[in-house]
Amino acid sequence: MNAARGFRAMIVGPPGCGKGFVAQMMVKTYGAVHISTGDMLRDHIRYRTWLGKRVERFTTRGKLVPDNLLTRIVTDAIGKAGNRNLILDGFPRNINQARALDEMMTLDFVLDLFLPMQAIIARLRTRLVHPASGRVYNDHGDMAPRVPGRDDITGERLVRRADDTSHSVVMARQRDYVQETYPVIQHYSQKNILHTILARQHESMVPLVKRYLAKRWPKRIHQRFRPQRRIELVCNQGPRSKSSTQQYRWSVS
Ligand code: AP5
Ligand code: MG
Repeated sequence: MNAARGFRAMIVGPPGCGKGFVAQMMVKTYGAVHISTGDMLRDHIRYRTWLGKRVERFTTRGKLVPDNLLTRIVTDAIGKAGNRNLILDGFPRNINQARALDEMMTLDFVLDLFLPMQAIIARLRTRLVHPASGRVYNDHGDMAPRVPGRDDITGERLVRRADDTSHSVVMARQRDYVQETYPVIQHYSQKNILHTILARQHESMVPLVKRYLAKRWPKRIHQRFRPQRRIELVCNQGPRSKSSTQQYRWSVS
């Protein structure tokens, strides 16, 4: 890694496995800039931008948005992040996007999060989000907000995501992940920068990821960079274990 800049990382994993939640921790602990394509697209939809109107019909059906639209907003966001620690969440999601990213920059590591399918479905049924910040919660358990239905920081109302409310859309997203994103995982495995984090049913990814990062990244990297707010409206795993891949493939087919 180049000493003059922070790390450049990506989180990959099935929809609902906890990518956003892990990214929140990396923002807090490492001052990382969090580039979540899903959050950026939802902002565009919320503010009824030109892009938002074009992508809404894809996201509400759980379908991937065309590559050219995504690549443009990600290029802008990466440019704005400068030399800070950077965490990509939700991009690249297919092999074309991975190749486009290779042209833009070199990743230092990829965290491949794996969680059993049953746990994912259960979490998505009860997920709540704060639309303005992208913060994620659950309506019960350790991830519940302090005040039910309200964001811990702003006190604003939490909502359910449109693509979580229908079981068929939830399953379509899982299927797309297997078909489109597995080649991306292989791509990074071949580059030897993939680190797979395997969590059990009720286990949080966060301590597992923290342990990996503490071993791998010296403290000085994250002390030099200050936390930054999420980028808003931009235009404004060691090799994966075969058994986990097969288990997932099997569970969504
Ligand atoms: P995106 O927003 O990226 O959605 P996703 O990949 O479907 O992933 P999610 O955000 O649903 O899940 P997550 O893994 O972040 O889990 P979370 O941290 O919330 O994309 C949305 C859409 O945008 C796509 O469908 C597509 O249309 C489009 N799009 C985005 N990027 C694209 C691209 N590159 N190309 C084309 N189209 C693109 O956690 C889930 C829940 O688990 C939360 O409730 C959390 O509180 C809870 N949780 C976390 N840890 C625990 C624990 N230990 N115990 C219990 N609950 C827990
Ligand atoms: Mg997310």
